[in-house]
Amino acid sequence: MLFSVLFFHVFMATLTLAAPATSGEQAGTAPIAATVTVPAASTVAQDVDTNNWAGLALTVGSNAAVRSVTGAFTIPTPAVPPGGNSHEVYESAAWIGIDGYNCDSALLRTGVTFIYANGDVNANAWYEWYPSVDRTYYDIKVSIGNLITASVTAYTPQSGTVTLINNSTGAQTSVALGNADYAALCMNSVEYIVGDTTQPNGAGPSLPIPDFGTLAFSDAFVSLTPSASPLTDLLNIVQDGAALTSVSTEYDTITIKYIGDSE
Ligand SMILES: *[C@@H]1O[C@H](CO)[C@@H](O)[C@H](O)[C@H]1NC(C)=O
Ligand SMILES: *[C@@H]1O[C@H](CO)[C@@H](O)[C@H](O)[C@H]1NC(C)=O
Repeated sequence: MLFSVLFFHVFMATLTLAAPATSGEQAGTAPIAATVTVPAASTVAQDVDTNNWAGLALTVGSNAAVRSVTGAFTIPTPAVPPGGNSHEVYESAAWIGIDGYNCDSALLRTGVTFIYANGDVNANAWYEWYPSVDRTYYDIKVSIGNLITASVTAYTPQSGTVTLINNSTGAQTSVALGNADYAALCMNSVEYIVGDTTQPNGAGPSLPIPDFGTLAFSDAFVSLTPSASPLTDLLNIVQDGAALTSVSTEYDTITIKYIGDSE
């Protein structure tokens, strides 16, 4: 189900089809909710193997809701993985989102794609209200090594905001999203993910994941209703029987290590 359905688009560094986006707009006022650090929100952690997602998913009970999720990360330098070919293209994305884990109908997320291509490395930042198409931020350019803070807020199942902060400068960009035509969010999970960027339904190339070293989501906070009873799943990518990642958590940080082909 989820992992075979929720593929990424390929995000091109030079993508110019970004729609006009509003900067700094607020879609509304979030209802009162408790803010907790994500790893500490639940002591129940299951380990889950996936095809294409590594990181953490936090799910709340059916009578609860998540409102917003935030975290900071440094965009890693993608490198040729062990046994790889320096003339190939390797691509991965790090993102934070609401839904997509226990809710197949929609996923609101924002993050960064980092690419190794024939010796060059590149990164670009995007947001997406799945299954609508992804958009690049028209007013912010990210580079490898930037420390950024990403946030996703759902005000209602069909309205929300994505925000990216440049932690070097404090500059931030926000995009208000949603209308009655958007797929409804369930508001029942949040994710911190490093994953592949396979196109939907297998269309287009499925690019292999680069060696991204270690990527840590720090300052990981989720805002949820106090009765949420969150459950935490730790996700690792296993391809052809080999684990590509190793995930660990500590207080407000989720650390995802590329461990390569363990054969
Ligand atoms: C953040 O600011 C630094 C310093 O001005 C700049 O080099 C970098 O490209 C910026 N990154 C983003 C994501 O805006
Ligand atoms: C990034 O910047 C935001 C806004 O200034 C700040 O709240 C946050 O603590 C910073 N995060 C890190 C990891 O420096």
